[in-house]
Amino acid sequence: MSSPHFCPYEGDVDAQSPNRNLAPLTAAVDPERQLWVGGCRLADLKAHYGTPLYVLDETTLRASCQAYCRALARHYPGESLVLYASKAHSSLAMAALMASEGLGLDAVSGGELLTAIAGGMDPRNIVLHGNNKSWVELELALEHGVTVVLDNWWELERLERLCGQREQRVRLLIRFTPGIECHTHEYIRTGHLDSKFGFDPEELDPVLRRLAMAPWAKVAGLHAHIGSQIFALQPHEDLAAVMVKALGRARALGHDPKDLNVGGGLGVRYVASDDPPTIAAWVRTVSAAVAAACHQQDQPLPRLLCEPGRSLVATAGLTLYQVGSRKEIPGVRTYVAVDGGMSDNPRPITYQSRYTACLPQRCRDTATETVTVAGKHCESGDVLLHNIPFPPVASGDLLVVFATGAYNASMASNYNRIPRPAAVLVHGGQAELVQRRESNQDLLRWDLLPEHLRQCGPVPIR
Ligand code: LLP
Repeated sequence: MSSPHFCPYEGDVDAQSPNRNLAPLTAAVDPERQLWVGGCRLADLKAHYGTPLYVLDETTLRASCQAYCRALARHYPGESLVLYASKAHSSLAMAALMASEGLGLDAVSGGELLTAIAGGMDPRNIVLHGNNKSWVELELALEHGVTVVLDNWWELERLERLCGQREQRVRLLIRFTPGIECHTHEYIRTGHLDSKFGFDPEELDPVLRRLAMAPWAKVAGLHAHIGSQIFALQPHEDLAAVMVKALGRARALGHDPKDLNVGGGLGVRYVASDDPPTIAAWVRTVSAAVAAACHQQDQPLPRLLCEPGRSLVATAGLTLYQVGSRKEIPGVRTYVAVDGGMSDNPRPITYQSRYTACLPQRCRDTATETVTVAGKHCESGDVLLHNIPFPPVASGDLLVVFATGAYNASMASNYNRIPRPAAVLVHGGQAELVQRRESNQDLLRWDLLPEHLRQCGPVPIR
């Protein structure tokens, strides 16, 4: 298929930095105005897999990984490792793909940890986060030799006990709140002092002193994360100086920390007006700031770790829906309802996040009306896009929402007992199912009907 690349807004495609595009790098439109991704026509994916469907483009995922790795190799004079923040999208296929690109991984639960290991990620390149890790999660980390991001005193004491029992040493990164404010949604800010994550800066010395006397702990380095969907580079520049200073304290207190983990947070384009920095600019800023701070403070260069999630996967993904009902309220609004909504994409209702949509069978058609794309859930706030200019859209049309690769599948629910969508990975004209669609049986899988409530025998569900 020879067809021009499709960009759903007036702008150029950034092949080097996929976080700056709305659509996957392989998005293209054929002469029949049909949208293709990864060499697959979306209408064919619908015919084969149904809707709603998460579609992930392998080319874009790999380009994003390579953009981070290339930029680090170019701009950071020391060793480095990119850890994929798997909360953005956790699956066996994603873990395997990230491992194949040489990335490590950040897990925040036993579930994400097991997924990563089962997907083939080397446990030595996994870090385990969490402000309230369970005993079982800590055991799992120790069993696999995963680095634990130490979050609080309670966890320190549990680890001390657990390592004692297992006669094992644990590799730690100490997480602290660097006191850096940045402009993003309140729920996704984590670096300011009023955060549930990590130690306060004043607690760092006492923690480091305590660990200096702990034969069970190896302080491998420090960690901080300031927030998510951040467009400004300044907060990350400020973070580097704060963290290098803290590394100096750790050394002064007898540790030999090698790793400095600056977290993730680089934003992506969800709507045309979003203008995030490139991956290279982010890496260059962080690298230069860390190197400069080390130089100024006379500290050796640490191994630089970063934990991008969204900027690695968001724009590689899109969600394919089918339009059902339309409701026109004269003088008020036109609702167009799709066959999914807040259970497969809870971000609009949770964070008032904005998205971009198109009709994949009539790409580039001129917008002639204003519509509100609603989901099918029994909740008025279940709206994916508010008042967007759109071409004429009718029941039965396919509809695509772009940039749903991050924090969609991983945050999906069964609200209203709606099954979670399937996910396919597309590449070179092939589509591979990487998450199967939930079935009606799946929905009933965990329910039990007590004997005394049974009116009649169980009715088989197909
Ligand atoms: N590292 C840590 C410790 C984090 O807490 C996070 C995200 C990341 C890395 C990855 O950040 P990213 O590069 O993806 O910005 N559900 C929200 C986002 C929550 C982010 C939580 N932490 C959303 O849908 O916007």
